[in-house]
Amino acid sequence: MCGIVGYVGNKSVTPLLIEGLKRLEYRGYDSAGIAVVNDHGMRVSRSVGRVSVLESNVMPTDGGNGVEPFDGCLGIAHTRWATHGEPSEANAHPHTCQTRCGNTVAVVHNGIIENYATLRQYLTKKGYHFTSETDTEVLAVLIAELYEGDLESAVQTALREVRGAYAIAVVCNREPHTLVCARKGSPLLIGLADKSYVVASDASAIIEHTTQAITLDDYQVAKLCAGMEDKTTADGGPWSVDFKTTTIDNLPVTHEVRELEIGLEQIELGDYPHYMLKEIMEQPESIRNCLRGRIDQRENRVVLGGLGEVSRQLVHAKRFILTGQGTAYHAGLIGEYLIQDLAKTPAHSEYASEFRYRNPLIEENTAIIAISQSGETADTLAALHEAKDRGALALGVVNTAGSTISRETDAGVYLHVGPEIGVASTKAFVGQVVVLTLMTLYLGRRKFLSQEALQSHLAQLERLPQHIATVLEQSDHIRGCVERWVDRDNWLFLGRGYNYPVALEGALKLKEISYIHAEGMPAAEMKHGPIALIDDGMPVVFIATQGSQYDKVMSNIEEVKARGGTIIAVATQGDREIHRYADSVFEVPDVPEALQPLVTVIPLQLVAYHAAVLRGLDVDKPRNLAKSVTVE
Ligand code: F6R
Repeated sequence: MCGIVGYVGNKSVTPLLIEGLKRLEYRGYDSAGIAVVNDHGMRVSRSVGRVSVLESNVMPTDGGNGVEPFDGCLGIAHTRWATHGEPSEANAHPHTCQTRCGNTVAVVHNGIIENYATLRQYLTKKGYHFTSETDTEVLAVLIAELYEGDLESAVQTALREVRGAYAIAVVCNREPHTLVCARKGSPLLIGLADKSYVVASDASAIIEHTTQAITLDDYQVAKLCAGMEDKTTADGGPWSVDFKTTTIDNLPVTHEVRELEIGLEQIELGDYPHYMLKEIMEQPESIRNCLRGRIDQRENRVVLGGLGEVSRQLVHAKRFILTGQGTAYHAGLIGEYLIQDLAKTPAHSEYASEFRYRNPLIEENTAIIAISQSGETADTLAALHEAKDRGALALGVVNTAGSTISRETDAGVYLHVGPEIGVASTKAFVGQVVVLTLMTLYLGRRKFLSQEALQSHLAQLERLPQHIATVLEQSDHIRGCVERWVDRDNWLFLGRGYNYPVALEGALKLKEISYIHAEGMPAAEMKHGPIALIDDGMPVVFIATQGSQYDKVMSNIEEVKARGGTIIAVATQGDREIHRYADSVFEVPDVPEALQPLVTVIPLQLVAYHAAVLRGLDVDKPRNLAKSVTVE
């Protein structure tokens, strides 16, 4: 999704902003732009396509055909993922507008201004002309219209008129040392660096400068100033930095500085060709981190500090609703199976986007579990609000510390798998399922689960990093197999029980990065229609591990085989039978059924990765996709 970077301080801003935008590239975007302010005015540049195009416009290396590099110590920049209006230079941010006294205001914005049409009509009547189709330009014009020499005040007044979601950063050439930013419903952080402030919608654009940051809350505005205390001193003279936070109604707010919990090495590629591969291959380590401190073997118990305060409410919960979108929804589906099976408590999972709009029934003692890697997904957040308003206990299973969902839940458990940069979610999915398993065991033990059953599951979970490492060793084998069918445009993924959500996840991974059409479904469902699709050589991926439904899955395999389909099977190590039917077999260690998704999904992640690479696609920047979907 869109990304914001802003800087005010004592360094040359243009390279800093370009570097910040590059750190945000993984989020997905289609155009980019920058505004730099100095004592002589403001310069703005916008371009369609990659940040490198913008970079060559504002930091020309070849003499720039007479174009001077942008120079200044204050600026804002943006990567745009089109919502209102096509990807074009005119629609790219920053959007600018002249104030009545001839100054220029520039705005970058993430989110959606819902009442933009009404505001646009009002401003058109006042004589303003619009040059883009965006909602953001309306905000820029409104701030310019209200500007009377105090940027902070103009922003506050404008935001009181706005409905919708926003994270914004605003500059004005009349105030060349001031950056104003604000948020409602879309994340925004302020990094407190040495003699400077870095504003960004994502911590990855900040941590190069500082790990100290403030997370703005909804309806908060921050005014950040930096500059030479005494203009008469030479370069390097005393530099003052200052900031204050208020609400949009100009009430003072006390801000809390926190330590960002990510390291630079976690967001750098290292020796890997793609973030997706890095994150797949590092899963033994990230899952070890996710499990760390959460299994007390001596006492045979699960330790989840984040649930301590609500443990009684959890035990009394009569129903669990698990919600999320995409991959997080698939994790929720596994959570539903786990909670019903091991904690013997009714549970159901639902797409957050559907839950939110269907007047959901929330009975007494219901708990909602919002699952989200980013913690910022708009649909998931809205579902959480809906359930909270109706009295549900709100729990979060979130990766990003300090994110909106994590702050708006009553309690929760972080994944601790490290930042996920690859657009296709991999380690976060496994982390989500691990956390849901731990939560189920935590709950189950307080209800019906025996000491022995708990002990056996915990022992298996402890071995999980090693199990995953064993599966990862087959990466080359998987690549070799995928190579044989990568030209096929339609694939099916089939599984039963705990492995049905894994089939959905395998299909989603394949389609989102390789653009191969893939469908996942319960294996038995195939006979009810989709079997008509099977023709000579169509790849059908079965999750056919040992367990209660093994024989049934084998029958489904025979049905596909009889119709000429190609069988790719994820099977339990040592299963000789499966080799008689399958064209390719990817082996996983023998683990109890309830834990199988944690290993069966790994080969499917690799299938998707290798298919995309073999098709020559940009794995980390799949078309049309955004890492964090902050609009509904
Ligand atoms: C797929 C994928 C998406 C996300 C979904 C929810 O690989 O990444 O389907 O899972 O957009 O995102 P989060 O988990 O950030 O709420």
